[in-house]
Amino acid sequence: MTYIVMENCIKCKFTDCVEVCPVDCFYEGENFLVIHPDECIDCGVCEPECPADAIRPDTEPDIEIWLEINTKYAEIWPNITMKKDQAVDAEDWDGKPGKLPLLSEQPGEGD
Ligand code: SF4
Ligand code: F3S
Repeated sequence: MTYIVMENCIKCKFTDCVEVCPVDCFYEGENFLVIHPDECIDCGVCEPECPADAIRPDTEPDIEIWLEINTKYAEIWPNITMKKDQAVDAEDWDGKPGKLPLLSEQPGEGD
């Protein structure tokens, strides 16, 4: 089991989650973060920290695509362990449906 980042993180990227992870298993894309499923120890402390409510355990229904996305990009994107400024229009994007096509494959800057 692992926790994973889901759709509502896209274009919000608040990054509160990275501050609490005891094993630093978040990786940063241009407009999204992912969790490395093989590094996550399932502690669950990141889930309530996300202002966008975008983190879930992989036991949730219909989560397979997000497990694949987290697995894929955790191998490519740089590690992030410190909070940075959220997207400038994060509040506007919070809760908007259909953000998956907006997911950028470009890596973020990391720490
Ligand atoms: Fe990190 Fe725990 Fe969240 Fe996994 S569940 S990503 S180990 S804070
Ligand atoms: Fe994304 Fe929430 Fe973390 S919006 S960056 S999963 S705090």
